[in-house]
Amino acid sequence: MRSQFDDFGGLRHLITLDGLSREQITAILDRAQNYRRFPGQSAYEGRELAGMTVANLFFEPSTRTRASFDLAARRLGAHVVNLDTQSSSRVKGETMLDTIYTLEAMNTDLFVIRDSEAGLPEFLIDHVAEHVAVISAGEAHLSHPTQGLLDVLTIRAHKRRFAGLKVAIVGDIRHSRVARSAARVLHTLGTTDLRLVGPAPLLPEEVEFTGAQRFVRIEDGIDGADVVMMLRIQKERMARTADLDDTEYFHHYGLTSARLALAAPEVLVMHPGPMNRGVEIASEVADGPRSVIREQVNAGVAVRMAVLAMIAATLTRRRKPL
Ligand code: CP
Repeated sequence: MRSQFDDFGGLRHLITLDGLSREQITAILDRAQNYRRFPGQSAYEGRELAGMTVANLFFEPSTRTRASFDLAARRLGAHVVNLDTQSSSRVKGETMLDTIYTLEAMNTDLFVIRDSEAGLPEFLIDHVAEHVAVISAGEAHLSHPTQGLLDVLTIRAHKRRFAGLKVAIVGDIRHSRVARSAARVLHTLGTTDLRLVGPAPLLPEEVEFTGAQRFVRIEDGIDGADVVMMLRIQKERMARTADLDDTEYFHHYGLTSARLALAAPEVLVMHPGPMNRGVEIASEVADGPRSVIREQVNAGVAVRMAVLAMIAATLTRRRKPL
């Protein structure tokens, strides 16, 4: 795979958090923190992407990631194309690469891509032009880099440290790109106590998530946890869902106030969304005082602004003269 950084250390693409150093991650988080504005404040308005065009290509559903990339790009002065993938020429058989080349010919500089095909972002960065960048907005079950970054930005705002934190990820970890990116970035930042909690069929293969502890009882997994990250069951990635019963799942794994009392008193309750209330999380917890779920959404805009701005600065150095 081509490096995600250029020869001068500038961020060039972002398709995975694998290989990013603590310093590189911290630089993105610090930049994001500068862009962060809270509900009720005026959003940051800048010109970091002035004259650039961002294309959002989402071939899987999205609310948060798509809307926040769109807002982030516009708030930095970019033109934005949100391709309507259901009515695009891909449904007539056009390949993803031909779709990219078509939009490249219209002076698109940055592609934000979500797709269910593993390996697609890496394939694309090997084929786009020298002055064009690719950002993954979710690759199959493998990677969701900006989600991992927004998760640690949210944790950092509250905990100010990663070493010594007890983090439990609960639910369908086997099919979760969110869990994989979160585990990767937490490990890089120094978290060593990572617990994976869920029914055995939804836990990942033993070779993945090295160093993490595994629990099939939620009560054991969240005991004393500083962060509890809840995940939905990704039925769209399962061949067979007939055995899954939402009520039964909530009975065994739903995060209720009673279960949350087992965690540390200052626990953060996180969820990447979309939530299935009454399946993996009770509304009283999702909307309760320990929930930072909407803060995660807020952090997502800032992280995407930071990633876009840092890549735009790299691309500017590569632009052809008029
Ligand atoms: N967390 C996340 O990726 O949400 P969306 O699917 O709504 O983008």
